[in-house]
Amino acid sequence: MACTIIVGGFFGDEGKGKIVAHIAERDKPAIISRGGVGPNAGHTVKMGDKTYGVRMVPSGFVYEKALLCIGTGVLVDPRVFLHEVDLLGVKGRVFVDERCGIIDPVHIERDRGSAHLSKTVGSTGTGCGPANADRALRVGRQAKDLPELAGYLMDVPAEINGSLDDGENVLIEGTQGFYISLYFGTYPYVTSKDTSASQMAADNGIGPTRIDDVIVVFKAYPTRVGAGPFSTEMTPEEAQEHGIEEFGTVTHRPRRIGTWDGEKARYSAMINGCTQAAITGIDRIDPGCFGCTEYDKLSKAAKDFVKKAEEDIGAPVTLISTGPDISHIIDLREDL
Ligand code: IMP
Ligand code: MG
Repeated sequence: MACTIIVGGFFGDEGKGKIVAHIAERDKPAIISRGGVGPNAGHTVKMGDKTYGVRMVPSGFVYEKALLCIGTGVLVDPRVFLHEVDLLGVKGRVFVDERCGIIDPVHIERDRGSAHLSKTVGSTGTGCGPANADRALRVGRQAKDLPELAGYLMDVPAEINGSLDDGENVLIEGTQGFYISLYFGTYPYVTSKDTSASQMAADNGIGPTRIDDVIVVFKAYPTRVGAGPFSTEMTPEEAQEHGIEEFGTVTHRPRRIGTWDGEKARYSAMINGCTQAAITGIDRIDPGCFGCTEYDKLSKAAKDFVKKAEEDIGAPVTLISTGPDISHIIDLREDL
């Protein structure tokens, strides 16, 4: 894997957290580092009878030997971060780049108090937009300005590039989804930064020549939270007929549900420089596939779906998630 980036191919919540957790356990990276906007992200990792919802600490925390980092480009809410560090017991192996932008309570107030952000755009209310605005205006604080983060500071890009020099594996964990990118998404119904693979590399100070693989995660039935166009959206009744109901990890808002959009998948794969794809929620295409761990045991309907997705994306589907647990996965990467 060497240096691998994982990003979302649709509107977010594609199940990146679970894919990251699986790859982390399988490929044993020395470093797992987060890119993306900030604590507006919510990653769910389900292991046995435990479910973790993380917003700041990388989802790869389940692999205990990895150093966990938050890249320079990411916004840190120190309250959320310190709470998660405590909850997950990861102190000593989790670090924040000293230049990360800080979310202060005033940013959350501005996010929630703005009708444009909270109503029109439908933001997560976590302060990310206003904090990124202050960062662009060069008035925001940085991680190194906060005594409570003193024990967690690191030059994350130096650590990552050093690890790559030593021939170790590094996993870069993207957040959000391609179509809520500030640049490429459905503006203005987007988040406050680009969300493509190049941004995840930049967030971590990794030059484009050092990236070996970009895994784009697509959901069999894409979802969207918040406002904005969604070409293949189903009515709530149709979603119910398919037995699909989802709620946001951060905001608990119901997610809008749609069907596969091959054109959008292809465009997103192109800009992300997709080398491999992951499909999540195949058990919704055929509930009989729930928990399956072998490709040959998938039904014809599921295999046909994967084949069509591969044609649309233009890259091999190497990971297929068949249920919520970290063990519910088919990993075909060695067959490449
Ligand atoms: P903000 O990033 O909180 O400003 O929200 C802007 C838009 O991006 C809203 O439509 C949010 O629902 C959406 N959004 C932000 N982060 C995520 C995410 O991690 N998953 C899904 N949607 C997100
Ligand atoms: Mg999420």
